[in-house]
Amino acid sequence: MMTNSSNIETDSSGTVQSVNYHVPVLLKETIDGLKIKPDGIYVDCTFGGGGHGSAILQKLNEKGRLIAFDQDADTKKNLPKDKRITFIPQNFRHIQRFLRLEGIKQVDGILADLGVSSHQFDTAERGFSIRFNAALDMRMDQRQQLTAADILKTYSEKHLHKMFEQYGEVTNAKTLAKTIMEHRQISPIQNINEFKNAVHSIVKGNPQKYFAQVFQALRIEVNDEFGALKDLLQQIPPLLNSGGRVAIITFHSLEDRIVKTFFKNGTFDEVEIDELYGTKNESLLKVITKKPLTADLRELKINPRSRSAKLRVSEKK
Ligand SMILES: C[S@@+](CC[C@H](N)C(=O)[O-])C[C@H]1O[C@@H](n2cnc3c(N)ncnc32)[C@H](O)[C@@H]1O
Repeated sequence: MMTNSSNIETDSSGTVQSVNYHVPVLLKETIDGLKIKPDGIYVDCTFGGGGHGSAILQKLNEKGRLIAFDQDADTKKNLPKDKRITFIPQNFRHIQRFLRLEGIKQVDGILADLGVSSHQFDTAERGFSIRFNAALDMRMDQRQQLTAADILKTYSEKHLHKMFEQYGEVTNAKTLAKTIMEHRQISPIQNINEFKNAVHSIVKGNPQKYFAQVFQALRIEVNDEFGALKDLLQQIPPLLNSGGRVAIITFHSLEDRIVKTFFKNGTFDEVEIDELYGTKNESLLKVITKKPLTADLRELKINPRSRSAKLRVSEKK
């Protein structure tokens, strides 16, 4: 591997990636799953450090195009100098609108590698990680108003309870919500240390694990991650050309269930099997991965973040 001053590395195949920014997970599986047509139009909804995006570019000829979305302005510095790529610094929940602005009605493949990048997680002042003390921010898009501190300050006890329970699977979510409500009457909770101190007496089990779950819930809520995913999924079937593929990598069981159900049923409802008439399958997508693909031992060893990654692929009928 060759490295230059901006931590961009080029491997033996010429693939460019900003390795200090983020190590792409399930890279080969994702690129294979997309079955890339060299002259096709592809969308990377979550450009990040550009690991997956650059691997897609590698498979395209001079006629191919890559449209890269990322709502985090920091990702701009990872863009390769390549005229086949167009960067759209927006939330992928508006995919159809922004593709139309580029004159694109349909594409040959769509990738979303959900969640936060290692760069976001490792940058103390972004407020994503319990390893640092910083303002409780957690916004991927810093043009957005709502921060994690705002949620702790304004949400009702019931809303906090549901959020920690559903998004973080925090075992004592109810007690946590109550403790936050009591503490915020006395003093505001603005930064990570203030938060840890406010709730230290009710932490259950391993504090690292506990706070990781609590922070995950806050991050999902701040960025409306499940809402954005559902908006994206609904726009995918009409956006894909026939035979076009969609690949989605998730890191949370609820997220995976949303993707699995949508790929299978074309809705977010788990359709009941009708004994008499069979299940009415409304999906315009054919599921390619009956079971999600996960990281092999080699990847797990070099990239612990791949532990909870699940890749699902579908094809437009
Ligand atoms: C896991 S990283 C992607 C890493 C990338 N595949 C790579 O190889 O470096 C997720 C990225 O998606 C972005 N992101 C997450 N949700 C988004 C959304 N709704 N719209 C646009 N970008 C989003 C984040 O800002 C982050 O940079």
